[in-house]
Amino acid sequence: MRKPFIIANWKMNKNVQESVEFAKAMQNAVPLGEDVGIAAQALSLYSMRAAIGDSPLRIIAQNAGSQPAGAQTGEISIESLADAGVSHVLLGHLERRLLFHESNEEIGKKVATALQFGVTPIICTDEEKIQVTIDGEQHYFFHQLTSILQGLSPKQMRRIIISYEPRFAVGAKQAASPKVAETTCWQIRQSIADHFGKKVADEVRILYGGSVTPQNIYGIVSQPNVDGALIGRASLDIQSFLQMVNCFQTAKRQKLAAI
Ligand code: PGA
Repeated sequence: MRKPFIIANWKMNKNVQESVEFAKAMQNAVPLGEDVGIAAQALSLYSMRAAIGDSPLRIIAQNAGSQPAGAQTGEISIESLADAGVSHVLLGHLERRLLFHESNEEIGKKVATALQFGVTPIICTDEEKIQVTIDGEQHYFFHQLTSILQGLSPKQMRRIIISYEPRFAVGAKQAASPKVAETTCWQIRQSIADHFGKKVADEVRILYGGSVTPQNIYGIVSQPNVDGALIGRASLDIQSFLQMVNCFQTAKRQKLAAI
């Protein structure tokens, strides 16, 4: 079974001290063997990592530059992220695409650099699929993902995590329904299978993001093709985040029992 992943995306919230305190409070609360992470502001990442020592809590960047180092004023070096103990980086979040006009080409370069330095890319995508019929079979084409992932080997693809975040649900009042989340995550998996083979597609983790709350998380992450959640607003409060980590564990146990 794919290992589920639950991630807090704090966006431009919480100062260094608040971030460190939250991470310290979380470090012992991460259930053994579970993937739980926090994507905090770049300024806080090093202090958070240092504060929690070898805790399995993942410290995640929200963005990075496409070059490992050099002349990209204002960007965050992936090489430095790796050096600071950052294990994952969100790339291509909807807000990066809308507010900072990041293109698929640019995101693709960032993915390649992250892989080069051993930082796992979590590629966010908000797009709807195009449905095509080939030899009487339905296939799904995702323009953003296809152009970002082109050129990767199946071995590299295995290291990628995808987060499906529909535009209508990010920062909104309502999440996508569990059915919509499941259907799209399944279609993304089919599309990965078309490009990289079924074995790779079965291994890649696909998360859902967009208005996840303690009330709706169970229905979403208990879907067979949804391997976790990327949570914005509802992750800012520690009790709310812990509650969601617990729901997510229950969902995982249920999925295991169903195998
Ligand atoms: P939200 O944000 O949970 O506040 O909708 C999700 C995200 O943007 O990752």
